[in-house]
Amino acid sequence: MLKQEIAQLIQKVLETKGIADAKVMVDYPADPKHGDYSTNVALIAAKKLGKNPMEFAEELVEDLRFTIKDLGLIEKIEMAKPGFINFWITQDKLMKEAQKFEFPNIGKKRTVVVEYSSPNIAKPFTIGHLRSTIIGDAVANLLEATGWNVKRDNHVGDWGTQFGKQIYAIKAWGNENELDKADRPVKLLVALYIKFHDEADTNPALEDEARAWFKRLEDGDDEARRLWQKCIDWSWKEFDAIYQKLGVSFTENNGRGYGEAYFEDKMATIITELRKKELLEEGKEGAQIVSFAEGSKLPPLMILKKDGASLYATRDLATDKFRLDTYKDTNLLIINEVGAEQSLYFRQLYKLEEMLGWFTPMQRVHIKHGLYRFKEGKMSTRKGNVIWLEDVLEEAVKRAMNLQNLTSDLRDTEVITTSNKVGDAARQHILNFSERLEIAEKVSIGAIKWNDLKRTPEQDIAFAWEEVLNMQGNSGPYMQYTYVRTKSILDKAKANGIATFDFTQTITKISMEERELLRLLARFDEVVAEAATRFSPSTVATYLFELAQAFNLFYQKHQIIKADTDVKQFRIGLTAATGNVIKRGLNLLGIQAPEKM
Ligand code: ARG
Repeated sequence: MLKQEIAQLIQKVLETKGIADAKVMVDYPADPKHGDYSTNVALIAAKKLGKNPMEFAEELVEDLRFTIKDLGLIEKIEMAKPGFINFWITQDKLMKEAQKFEFPNIGKKRTVVVEYSSPNIAKPFTIGHLRSTIIGDAVANLLEATGWNVKRDNHVGDWGTQFGKQIYAIKAWGNENELDKADRPVKLLVALYIKFHDEADTNPALEDEARAWFKRLEDGDDEARRLWQKCIDWSWKEFDAIYQKLGVSFTENNGRGYGEAYFEDKMATIITELRKKELLEEGKEGAQIVSFAEGSKLPPLMILKKDGASLYATRDLATDKFRLDTYKDTNLLIINEVGAEQSLYFRQLYKLEEMLGWFTPMQRVHIKHGLYRFKEGKMSTRKGNVIWLEDVLEEAVKRAMNLQNLTSDLRDTEVITTSNKVGDAARQHILNFSERLEIAEKVSIGAIKWNDLKRTPEQDIAFAWEEVLNMQGNSGPYMQYTYVRTKSILDKAKANGIATFDFTQTITKISMEERELLRLLARFDEVVAEAATRFSPSTVATYLFELAQAFNLFYQKHQIIKADTDVKQFRIGLTAATGNVIKRGLNLLGIQAPEKM
């Protein structure tokens, strides 16, 4: 990585000056006039040494120039006010780097559990779960690409007192046959759940019935277990379909992840350990709680209810202990991708796990995503004002079809000709309906994922179809179109008898647009490294968008296939490298790059 090579050079020079502890930060200047890379280390070190920053920077520049003389890495170094040092990389080096597609080994086989999605049985798969699925999957991809041993887990909510209500409702008003046959059985289950609450409002005795059913479930009663299992099967019918559409999967517990119920029989030992470590105390209403130190500002966490029933937290503790025992990595990392509304809870959980001596704070990470805000206020399953993910996905495909001037009434046999929206007006595709549909699916999922991953996860998003399914400007389809454009240029090159797409050709002078593209391409590994280190897919998305814009500008300004022979091979190479990086980058984000659109 260029960034690292530069940082090391600076470090070396600083050491000769007796400064060994400086933290060398290397950045990308926003304005290319300030070089390809830049550092403020002179400013910071001069302050500490009580020296004049500009003079000190000049001194460093002198030494650096001497150090880099024969490396072929840096072409120019300059001091800039008030004490920055800017670096320009040689064209040769940029060209070499731009054709490398390896990522640094950051994880070094260290095990990481990335837990994401985690929907609840018999409840809607919400847009919040969708966010968790998209972001968590992308983070897992990034970690996998950078040498981590990744366990993809899904902490499905398949246990809790709500199952007492659900079972009661199915028995009282449900129809198992109908549920078995339904395309979307969860919708029916939710309707039954809502009915339970409506009825219980006037008939509080139902709550007791529900409690009794949950007790039966806990005690292993056959009928209770059977219906609970059916709820799981009905729900997974939908989850499977959603995950398949999204192209997302899990590695643990046969691909379904360890749900909360898996830990039912693993909680007793946790309680024993909590007692032994004298962490449990009796709370106000007879519940068992854990209190945190005064200064932590954390409220107590309930571990057992008055009647001895376990809670969400109890099951989370059992889950993490299980992970600790199962994966046998002394430096295990666990990442929970869960909505920001659970922040306080996760702080309590992590603190408690630290008190138990299981993990250091560095081993636990909560990646939080913001909420989708609705004009009507918060979504609530009970009130029935939810947006069904299935509807979102359906609407997305419709819009993607529209983007291609397609209507769903077109039949398979019909052949449609459309032009590429991004601007290859001359390039006409002839694709049949099923091909179009397949592309529309990739495009719609790409649009949804991109619109999420392009922003930092903590941000709330006001729900609007135009926002979630945005297909213009900084969008998934724009990225996919740009990739398709590179493909079509390469196809043309092939048709013109050009077989290799590397740019070994030596050229003396390259244009501004080409240089910009080169230096962006050379940075790909650094961007992935940074994104993986910070668990930040949006870092990749921001970069890819910049790259696509740089490529489209280059394409607008320069001939490629029709270029003079002395630059043609180089430009084709740039095109190929851009295509490779966009495809690889989109894949890291869990987005597919169709070969045609
Ligand atoms: N099922 C939960 C929900 O829908 C999310 C679970 C998050 N993960 C965890 N380890 N608690 O809110």
